[in-house]
Amino acid sequence: MGNVIVIGAQWGDEGKGKIVDLLCGRADVVVRFQGGPNAGHTVSVAGRKTFLHHVPSGILHPERLCLLGNGMVVDPDRFLKEVADLQAAGVEVDGRLFLSRRAHLIFPHHRALDQAAEEQPEHRIGTTRRGVGQAYMAKALRVGVRGVDLDDDAELRRRLTLALRLHHAFKEAIPGLPHVTLEESLEAAASNRRRLAPYLDDTGGRLQDALEAGRRVLFEGSQGTLLDVDHGTYPFVTSSNTVAGAACTGAGVGPAQIQAAVGVYKAYATRVGEGPMPTEETGQVGEGLRQRGREFGTTTGRPRRCGWFDAVAGRYAARVNGLRVAALTLLDVLDASSEIQVAVAYDTPSGRIDRFPSSPAALSAARPVYETLPGWEQDTSGCRAWDDLPARARDFVERLETLLGVRFVLISVGADRDQTIEREAGALDALFS
Ligand code: GDP
Ligand code: IMO
Ligand code: MG
Repeated sequence: MGNVIVIGAQWGDEGKGKIVDLLCGRADVVVRFQGGPNAGHTVSVAGRKTFLHHVPSGILHPERLCLLGNGMVVDPDRFLKEVADLQAAGVEVDGRLFLSRRAHLIFPHHRALDQAAEEQPEHRIGTTRRGVGQAYMAKALRVGVRGVDLDDDAELRRRLTLALRLHHAFKEAIPGLPHVTLEESLEAAASNRRRLAPYLDDTGGRLQDALEAGRRVLFEGSQGTLLDVDHGTYPFVTSSNTVAGAACTGAGVGPAQIQAAVGVYKAYATRVGEGPMPTEETGQVGEGLRQRGREFGTTTGRPRRCGWFDAVAGRYAARVNGLRVAALTLLDVLDASSEIQVAVAYDTPSGRIDRFPSSPAALSAARPVYETLPGWEQDTSGCRAWDDLPARARDFVERLETLLGVRFVLISVGADRDQTIEREAGALDALFS
């Protein structure tokens, strides 16, 4: 079968783009199943970086079919700009990049509400301000507009009228919310209908055809498990399900059609936006990780909050996603550290715990209990095999494996596609067999 889900196992930006690009060498189809322009995935090939927000990270492999699934919310302007940038860079997309007709579209009033809400301290989540949560809200309220709805003038007008009525009802709660007219929204829809036409498609049908033909499919997650709207650090989360289970609903396949989920963990912790982060280091340690890991947002350019690896959160993510295998990224960022900390439990007002709490207050009150591991203080960026890694780096990886209950089949020691270690010969083939 060989159909594999790749998901983020922390707070996003774990290096999913790199891992998907890498695994894509063995797959025929790559499908995104949730999120939208809030995602920022970086793929680096021979030193050249490509930043992707909507488009699956398989696009740099010629001939791979790249699908934007029904579970996504898509900003038409940003999607089309992304496609134009890829084309300008010589990437052929025609006939292999398709957007689900069932995916919801982000409208100007969604962005306006996201931006105005973020200006209100009591509403602030630290979102990417791209209207993602507002498009998912419209979806749940049954007033959203999907690609397929662009063709039905009467229904489009009816839906947008209702959506704008609700939008304007927010004015009282959110001062500064701009007024958006029906005409503006209909104009945006008309322009989107024309411009999106070459891409809109029955992606679920295409996916099923591919599966029936024995093609290998990669499911590319965005954000991370701790940002999942159900399983993350609610309310400081994104608005979609980011866990492996969401691949089925967001792409239109059944669980039995998928063989494995690969969690992507970075060797330390980062988070963008508000919300509890038990291992955050606000001083020099955090700044050191930020500089060495170049931890500035791909989507918004914001400095990411940095800290030590949190194995309590990591183990929780492994369980929620049913992970057995994983990829460990940005190991090289720890090359300069003489000592490395890993949180193995939390101290809380009611005692020591090793389970990830569901209450934001409990998580905010949690103080990490650290295990200190010796650093290897050697450059790992040139390592290409497990045995090339310094013994202490291998010890670190193995300690994380024990704490998380997963096996790292891939270890990444640099941004580039080839700066990767396959744990043992055949580990990736096994994943896809
Ligand atoms: P994503 O959202 O999970 O795809 O991750 P991002 O692309 O937002 O952030 C990961 C960043 O780390 C990008 O700049 C990658 O190019 C970079 N990166 C990925 N793997 C490694 C690695 O092993 N070492 C280093 N130094 N950088 C990496
Ligand atoms: P990738 O796919 C990191 C965060 C935002 C904010 C919260 C809600 O690159 O890993 P939203 O705009 O989704 O309503 O914001 O989620 N967030 C991300 N953080 N990586 C991402 O994506 C993120 N997408 C959203 O910073 O805290
Ligand atoms: Mg990112």
